[in-house]
Amino acid sequence: MKLLLATRNEDKVKEIKDILAELELEIISVSRFSEIPEVVEDRDTLKGNAIKKAKECSEYSNLLTIADDTGLFVDSLNGKPGVYSARYAGENCSYKDNRLKMLRVMSNISVRSAQFRTVCALVSPDGLIAVTEGIVEGIITEKEYGDNGFGYDAIFRANETGKTFGEMTDKEKKSFSHRSRALKKMIPIIKNYMRRKDES
Ligand code: IMP
Repeated sequence: MKLLLATRNEDKVKEIKDILAELELEIISVSRFSEIPEVVEDRDTLKGNAIKKAKECSEYSNLLTIADDTGLFVDSLNGKPGVYSARYAGENCSYKDNRLKMLRVMSNISVRSAQFRTVCALVSPDGLIAVTEGIVEGIITEKEYGDNGFGYDAIFRANETGKTFGEMTDKEKKSFSHRSRALKKMIPIIKNYMRRKDES
């Protein structure tokens, strides 16, 4: 059986493939399907965007499909940038632009708590829709630490490790990140779906 990842972001594809490696599935990225258009992420929740991405890609490909949507929710900014994390510094901004804007906005703010949240959606051509969530609590640092990872990794220090995601190895980030938490909850749901398919 094949599992389609509804993302063209190679950083995410690598992380997701590693986390789901125990599944006996051929995991392929949507980049293989030039006919699948870019999904417009226009919902106002992570769940709405994740389901939309998984549904559209499953409909085009006729494959079991998993999508994730992630946001950084900063308490002092009333949960911003949240679902708009990709475009925090404006349309077509870079990861670095987003980090620099966040550091600037937070420069005089002492309460720096934040959460990374990922919602994963699994959609099958025969009507299954399942949703899981993973959360990591942390703080926004005052400058960048570490150059691993992507996005806001260098400025988010996870409470559980005292390190930013940028300072962690791929293995460390994979073992407890927001995305891996949401994906790990998806593993038994995928196994159950595969079992039912085998039996039918
Ligand atoms: P997406 O819509 O799920 O691709 O995520 C929105 C934005 O959140 C991305 O453009 C990144 O800036 C950021 N992001 C997503 N996942 C991560 C992560 O694991 N670490 C750091 N930043 C992330």
